[in-house]
Amino acid sequence: MKNILVTGGCGYIGSHTVLSLLENGYFVYVLDSNVNSSPLVIKRLIEIISQKDKGKINNLQFLEGDIRRLENIESIFKTASDNNKKINGVIHFSGLKSIKESINYPLKYWENNVVGSINLLKMMDKYECKTIIFSSSATIYNNFGKEKIKENCSIKPINPYGRNKSTIELFLNDIYESDPINWKIINLRYFNPIGAHCSGKLGENPIGLVNNIFPLILKVASKNINQLKIFGNDWDTRDGTCIRDYIHIMDLANGHIEALKFLQGNNPQILNLNIGTGSGITVLELIKTFERVNNLKIPYSFVGRRKGDMENVVADNSKILEILNWVPKYSLEDMCRDGWNWHLTNPNGY
Ligand SMILES: NC(=O)c1ccc[n+]([C@@H]2O[C@H](COP(=O)([O-])OP(=O)(O)OC[C@H]3O[C@@H](n4cnc5c(N)ncnc54)[C@H](O)[C@@H]3O)[C@@H](O)[C@H]2O)c1
Repeated sequence: MKNILVTGGCGYIGSHTVLSLLENGYFVYVLDSNVNSSPLVIKRLIEIISQKDKGKINNLQFLEGDIRRLENIESIFKTASDNNKKINGVIHFSGLKSIKESINYPLKYWENNVVGSINLLKMMDKYECKTIIFSSSATIYNNFGKEKIKENCSIKPINPYGRNKSTIELFLNDIYESDPINWKIINLRYFNPIGAHCSGKLGENPIGLVNNIFPLILKVASKNINQLKIFGNDWDTRDGTCIRDYIHIMDLANGHIEALKFLQGNNPQILNLNIGTGSGITVLELIKTFERVNNLKIPYSFVGRRKGDMENVVADNSKILEILNWVPKYSLEDMCRDGWNWHLTNPNGY
């Protein structure tokens, strides 16, 4: 399985995964509309890869296109077949990901995320490509307890974004059931990816409103925002702030390579896998680590709890550790250092 289509390959997780794919000898087609990313990512990928192995530059092809348009997806499958480089597997990142925006614009989210995924699956079926890794999310769980979240915990998303993800999972399940002797599917349920590639050439580049904690910390660190607002200091945790499972972006990227290798080497099946470190970190612990590693101060203040937030969202990652040849290698310190290095090198993004 050497020719892989990556939808959303210019985005945060997609770009780091494309790099890992290239490093691992795959031929990669990237399809991205750049609605939430920059095409300059492709230039950066070429810069990094050419420093290691110039020959691999030719293993990357980018098409600007939208998965809401069948003809854009078809064009990439057709070109690949015509060039004798038939696509054998897909990693499907493209999607809109703001919970807040999904509540205000559900139509936009269902169309982009769900209709877009249906289009992609139609074309995969047509071109007999039956291997897919889907970017799912911990937001599909509704976890009010203190336990780590297992894959068989109840799926009860509380916003349109989460419902998009759980619906796509259900739909992939139906696709698998319709042809279980051919489909190979992994739903990777991400926890909280942060950090950047150590080169400082790739990182998270949010366009528009920034909601996630790590990009906000970077904005405070660089004095673009005065202070970080922490939602609630009265949670029942060691310091009163929420607990999350932060995972280094390169660990997450490498998880996709191992997922592909697993699907390649095993019988058709569908799997749901949490991908996180399994370690819970409070918001204050994240801030303190960031300050210590980068030798700077992050001013913060506490505000009330945010509607829909959960106290404790940590992966039980025993299933992925058992099934894939994958373990997270990077520490919270690495995440804080690499993320800040990315920001210092690219204060205005790409
Ligand atoms: N970042 C996270 O914390 C996180 C957590 C769980 C799941 N996810 C999921 O992982 C995937 C990747 O996340 P990310 O953080 O890299 O997001 P991102 O916004 O950086 O990347 C998504 C990419 O998809 C592209 N895209 C969006 N709609 C498209 C369309 N209709 N056609 C073609 N391209 C389109 C965007 O331009 C962008 O490059 C998303 O599906 C997201 O929901 C992300």
